[in-house]
Amino acid sequence: MHLELTSHFQKIQPSLVVPPSVSANSQAHASTEASTSSSVPSTMKAWVYREYGGVDVLNFESSVPVPEVKDDQVLVKVAAAALNPVDFKRRQGMLKATDSPLPTIPGYDVAGVVVKVGSQVKGLKEGDEVYGDINEKALDGPKQSGSLAEYTAVEEKLLALKPKSLDFAQAAGLPLAIETAYEGLEKSGFSAGKSILVLGGAGGVGSLVVQLAKHVFGASRVAATSSTGKLELLKSLGADLAIDYTKENFEDLPEKFDVVYDAVGQCDRAVKAVRQGGSVAVLTGAVTPPGFIFVVTSNSSVLTKLNPYLESGKVKPVVDPKAPFPFSKVVEAFSYLETNRTTGKVIISPIP
Ligand SMILES: NC(=O)c1ccc[n+]([C@@H]2O[C@H](COP(=O)([O-])OP(=O)(O)OC[C@H]3O[C@@H](n4cnc5c(N)ncnc54)[C@H](OP(=O)(O)O)[C@@H]3O)[C@@H](O)[C@H]2O)c1
Repeated sequence: MHLELTSHFQKIQPSLVVPPSVSANSQAHASTEASTSSSVPSTMKAWVYREYGGVDVLNFESSVPVPEVKDDQVLVKVAAAALNPVDFKRRQGMLKATDSPLPTIPGYDVAGVVVKVGSQVKGLKEGDEVYGDINEKALDGPKQSGSLAEYTAVEEKLLALKPKSLDFAQAAGLPLAIETAYEGLEKSGFSAGKSILVLGGAGGVGSLVVQLAKHVFGASRVAATSSTGKLELLKSLGADLAIDYTKENFEDLPEKFDVVYDAVGQCDRAVKAVRQGGSVAVLTGAVTPPGFIFVVTSNSSVLTKLNPYLESGKVKPVVDPKAPFPFSKVVEAFSYLETNRTTGKVIISPIP
C-alpha cells in the first residue's frame, strides 16, 4: 500500500502554505550541546508530580535521578518536548487504573540527541538526532520518567532519526499526533480517491490528518471543522472545504464522506456524515456504530515512512502561535492546552 501511496504522491504537487503565525517557529532551535555518556550527570532538572490533580501538582525539581538505560534503550538528552491531551488526562488521574506508579515526570513526545546506548541497541549511536513518542502503549503503563526532563530513556524501536529540515522544536510536536493520524487513516481503510471529513482539523492530530489524507494518501476531497478564526489554516493544510462549526452543523450538509475522522468526541453526529458502508475513526468519547475507537501505538516506522514528506515540507508540523514555551513555563503550557483552544501543537523548548 505504501508503494501505491508513494507513486500516487509523486503525481501531485501540493502547494501547502502554512501562515507564518501558525507555522513552526524556525528560530526555535534548541541548544543541543553534544553530551556523551561520560558527561551524563547523575541528576537532572525535571517537572514532577507526586499526586494526581490540576496544574498545581506540577513541580519543578532540580535534582531528579537521571533514568537508567535498559539494554534495548538509549538515553536522550532532551532538546524539545510537546504536550498532548493524554498528558493532562493522565495527570488528572483519568488513567489511574493502568498508569505507572507515582511520582511521574510527564511527557510522551521528545526530540533530542542520543547520549548513551544500551547493550542491545543496534541502530542508534551517540550523537544521533532523534524524535519519537516514548510510550509504546499510550494508556498502558506509560513511563514514570517522561520527556519533560533533561534526559529520558527510550526504547530504540520507538525513535526515528529527526528529519534534517526540521529543528528540534518542530520535530517534537509530531510523533504522537502524526502516528495517531496515520494509524486512524489506515484503520479506517482510507486510500487514494476517497473523501474524508476531519472533526477538529486545527488540533494537534486533526491538522496532520488533513495533511496526510490530502498529500500522502491522495484524498479526492478533504473537509474539516474548526472555529471561525482557523478556517484559513484548514485550507492552507489542504482542506477543500473548511466548515465553521460555530455557524454550521456538519451533519446537516447534503454531502456524505467515505471516512469521518473524529478528533473531537462527536461520534453520535459523525455517523450521520458518513456514507453508507464508510468508516468513522474515533479518538475520544462515546462510540456510536459504525464508529470505532482505537488507542495509538507508538510506532517509529510511521515516522521513517513519512520522513520524505516531512523533509520536503509536503507535510508540515503546525506549532501553536503561542509556542514554544520555555522549560520554565510548563505550567502555563499545560493550562493553555487544557483550554481546548490551541492550534496545532504546544511545544516546550528549549529544555532545560
Ligand atoms: N485514541 C488515541 O490514540 C488518541 C491519540 C491522540 C489524541 N487523542 C485524543 O483526541 C483528542 C484530540 O487530540 P489533539 O491532540 O488533536 O487535541 P488538541 O490539539 O488539544 O485539540 C484542540 C483543537 O480542538 C479543536 N476543537 C475543539 N472543539 C472543537 C469542535 N467542537 N469542533 C472542531 N474542532 C474543535 C480546537 O479548535 P477550535 O479552537 O477551533 O475549537 C483546537 O484547535 C483529545 O481528546 C485527545 O486526548 C486520542
